[in-house]
Amino acid sequence: MLNLVLFGPPGAGKGTQSEYLIRKYQLVHLSTGDLLRSQIASGTELGLRAKLLMDQGLLVPDEVVIGMIESKLTEHGESAPGFIFDGFPRTVKQAEALDDLLAHHNTGITTMIALVVNEEELIRRLLKRGETSGRPDDRDEATARRRVSVYNNETTPVASYYEQQGKFAAINGIGTIEEIFASICQKIDEAQA
Ligand code: AP5
Repeated sequence: MLNLVLFGPPGAGKGTQSEYLIRKYQLVHLSTGDLLRSQIASGTELGLRAKLLMDQGLLVPDEVVIGMIESKLTEHGESAPGFIFDGFPRTVKQAEALDDLLAHHNTGITTMIALVVNEEELIRRLLKRGETSGRPDDRDEATARRRVSVYNNETTPVASYYEQQGKFAAINGIGTIEEIFASICQKIDEAQA
């Protein structure tokens, strides 16, 4: 199985690149942000509680997102050719839980690929998307900057977690979508060699 963690700050291009990757490698795309937004759209209690945090740019509790990923892995079972984890794990606790869950399915993470983009470019992209996406967490600069700050403080340690396992690759997330996609594919080839 090819199991990728696509990592990077808000606006780095994880969702954009995931769309290309799932087509090329036939992977199942698991985005915790999308799963949470679907809960919000369905008006579930989990969604209502998550929305309060997401609208402020804060993380949803680990147990909630780990539970969502667990049920998705069970749903797809070992028949999937692999998974792309987008926006998950965001804490070391989530990364440890993911390793345990994958071990139960007799598999593990192949590599983490981190998209590196500077803060001003991230804010520019998020505010531009906010003009049309309707995402409440894209609407104002203060919330966008809080999301980047939460990433810097709470999520960056996840990169070291994978680096210690020899499963970390960073690439420049600035450039055309095609150029970045080519760099990601090269890192995947290296990880599988
Ligand atoms: P989530 O939905 O995961 O959002 P995010 O990480 O903030 O990521 P984004 O979707 O904003 O950006 P992206 O990197 O996917 O970039 P995209 O491709 O869209 O999380 C939302 C919230 O849910 C969190 O804040 C948290 O509250 C909660 N949550 C989710 N997962 C959680 C977890 N595991 N634990 C706890 N809480 C969790 O691109 C952005 C824009 O840039 C687009 O407009 C795109 O067109 C453009 N763009 C893309 N590539 C390029 C390029 N190369 N050049 C120019 N523009 C580009």
